[in-house]
Amino acid sequence: MRAVLTAVSDRYEAGLVTAIERSRELVVARRCADLADLLAAASAGLARVALVSGELRELDRSALDHLARAGVAVVGVHGPADEVSETRLRQLGLDVVVAADADTEALEGACVAVLQTAAADAPVADADWVPGSAEAEPDGVGRAEGRVVAVWGPTGAPGRTTVAVTVAAELAASGTPTLLVDADTYGGCVAQTLSLLDEAPGLAAAVRAAEHGTLDVAALARLAPEVTPGLRVLTGLPTAERWPEIGAAALERVLTLARQVTAVTVVDCGFSLEDDEELSYDTLAPRRNAPTLTALSLADTVLAVGAGEPIGLQRLVRGLRALGALPCPDPVVVVNRVRAEAVGWHPERRIRDALQRFAGVRSPYLVPDDRSALDAALLSGRTLTEEAPGSPARLALAELAGSLAPAGDPVSRRERRARRRWVAGPV
Ligand SMILES: Nc1ncnc2c1ncn2[C@@H]1O[C@H](COP(=O)(O)OP(=O)(O)OP(=O)(O)O)[C@@H](O)[C@H]1O
Ligand SMILES: [Mg+2]
Repeated sequence: MRAVLTAVSDRYEAGLVTAIERSRELVVARRCADLADLLAAASAGLARVALVSGELRELDRSALDHLARAGVAVVGVHGPADEVSETRLRQLGLDVVVAADADTEALEGACVAVLQTAAADAPVADADWVPGSAEAEPDGVGRAEGRVVAVWGPTGAPGRTTVAVTVAAELAASGTPTLLVDADTYGGCVAQTLSLLDEAPGLAAAVRAAEHGTLDVAALARLAPEVTPGLRVLTGLPTAERWPEIGAAALERVLTLARQVTAVTVVDCGFSLEDDEELSYDTLAPRRNAPTLTALSLADTVLAVGAGEPIGLQRLVRGLRALGALPCPDPVVVVNRVRAEAVGWHPERRIRDALQRFAGVRSPYLVPDDRSALDAALLSGRTLTEEAPGSPARLALAELAGSLAPAGDPVSRRERRARRRWVAGPV
């Protein structure tokens, strides 16, 4: 017998429970009154499957993520012939849904199906995970989805945003449709850097839509305006204290959708890699570093940006060690603001030697210190690509972007349709 939790609206509960009681395979473990009751029952391990109706208050991606982490697979329940409710359940990510008037056999089938799907989707054991395996895949082969590039760097403002913005702008300028996402929960400033309204809804609204199951291609296109041809931007939080709004599960949905509609998604991450969940022991509390950790874990490429001076390099070396312990690809190392004044003559050679010696890094990208070009770009609110195309910093970052451009990805027909809607979507 399979134990089942139910959390469905009063209208349908009696009928569903009666149908389950007729089953020889299913038994009701608990009739949950609301979402909190359901989450508590799931955390207590009362059942491995739950029947949840779309009308359940506050049912969103975070709640479903919590259920998944508790090992509970969810069957969505919609009103008979209620297409709106069915669509919403599917947008929330539920693959198996049934009508509230389903008979015993249909309910048994749905529970078996959702448990099989959950087993197939279960994450591979940590020991099976090989850092850098994404890079082992030959570029473009069998890859129908867009890539995610996470730009990370330690504390001390080494230039994460500069690298993220410029790389995204370069990719777009070279004909690769690109989405730039500001996911820095400690003070994202992509909006200011590009002179966009900092009260633009951006990522916070996209995440909210994802939480409520209403994020689709058109909504994402509306929230991510095109700032230069081929470059769309999801701006960050207007104020850093709103960080609890960016939930990991919803950000994952945003990035997953982005993969379907744009060739490259560049994510400007925060600096901290600490897992706040482990620190607090409270699995329901919002986690400030979760967006960074989520972006890193979904990334096909990680750029690790460090500052080209002694303290910055030391932080970078430590940061690379911390990155090595996370489930993300081996990073491409970028050292920014390289200058002789900070490290001595022949700064490139010294930095390469130090990184090779202390972190085993073989060929870092080096970006020269270029105060005048960066200041001019910030002052005009434009990208380096537009403002100072001949500047040394831009040329170095263009080379880096060139190495990230996807090489002739085969694009499926479904994806091409989605991308057309995205390109044509309202700005
Ligand atoms: N190559 C460079 N040459 C000169 N100045 C640079 C260079 N790269 C970045 N800067 C400047 O350094 C400052 C910090 O850069 P940026 O905002 O990109 O860093 P960050 O790592 O995103 O910082 P934060 O921790 O604030 O998010 C900015 O004023 C930027 O213009
Ligand atoms: Mg920044």
